[in-house]
Amino acid sequence: MLSVEIIIITIISLSFRLCLCCSNDNDGCGDVQRFAHPSKHEDGSVRFLVVGDWGRGGAYNQSQVAFQMGKAADKLGIDFVVSTGDNFYDDGLTSVHDAALQHSFTNIYTAKSLQTQWYTVLGNHDYRGDAVAQLSPFLREIDNRWLCLRSFIVHSELVELFFVDTTPFVQEYFTEPEGHTYDWRGINPPKSYISNLLKDLEQALTLSTAKWKIVVGHHAISSIGHHGDTKELRKQLLPLLQANDVDFYMNGHDHCLEHISDTESPIQFLTSGAGSKAWRGDIKETKKRGVNFFYDGQGFMSVKLTQTDADIEFHDVNGKILHRFTSSIFFHVKVRASW
Ligand SMILES: *[C@@H]1O[C@H](CO)[C@@H](O)[C@H](O)[C@H]1NC(C)=O
Repeated sequence: MLSVEIIIITIISLSFRLCLCCSNDNDGCGDVQRFAHPSKHEDGSVRFLVVGDWGRGGAYNQSQVAFQMGKAADKLGIDFVVSTGDNFYDDGLTSVHDAALQHSFTNIYTAKSLQTQWYTVLGNHDYRGDAVAQLSPFLREIDNRWLCLRSFIVHSELVELFFVDTTPFVQEYFTEPEGHTYDWRGINPPKSYISNLLKDLEQALTLSTAKWKIVVGHHAISSIGHHGDTKELRKQLLPLLQANDVDFYMNGHDHCLEHISDTESPIQFLTSGAGSKAWRGDIKETKKRGVNFFYDGQGFMSVKLTQTDADIEFHDVNGKILHRFTSSIFFHVKVRASW
């Protein structure tokens, strides 16, 4: 009896100390920047759109997807937008003064409903330009919706979104750059950059008490599209997500829309990389288990989270809902316990 009490007291005091370390001393919880984004809904639900692989000056139906995003955002009443990276084609921004920010972002996502915070990660194409420019606070003076960082956390009521910089994980960008130059400033040496990132992420995931945990990156962990799975992420990132009750991993990179269930955990892999040029008919794997939905045209994803449910919908370039599913938190808790 006594020992049980001691254990409980130890656990309480331990978690108390961890909490203190988070609020007082940011170093104790890694260098990941955190943002609080309150929901605008009275019921505390959190609603957002997810789009990826988009910036082409409106071409390849980027403007049409943007138009449908505006309509869906208005209907849903979104709190923010998530971009899964490859924000500017072909080679990111040239500098903070690159007019692509206006031509491919400000002048494209013009709907009133989209005039909200955008949370953005970098894709591999962004690294082929001035990657540091996309992270600059100067861009917020040009368009205050813009927020792009390497890795960061957004806490919104019942959800925490963990944004992860996945490009430095992919070894072939270092070993076979194929004529491209990547802006690795701030990444070298990549090995310690990645191990620090994973350490910070693990700590943040472990401490998270959010009802829903979502991890966002550019590259896919599971995909049947052109690039398929990213083997480095399967090896290094996936075990962390499985061990920490992550509900969804959201990515772009493959220019399609996908919903794939993990075969080893309740994690759902959601690809939203169809913001402009889509690769029709380009399927890498046809026998993968867990594939619920694949669409190789253009579109985006919408998410509504409540205390009990996550409603996810995939929309095409004409505004049609192609795939919809609801994930219940009770299901996840139950599955987690028995997995
Ligand atoms: C734009 O979308 C329409 C409707 O899905 C499609 O037929 C057309 O091929 C697309 N255009 C481009 C350039 O992707």
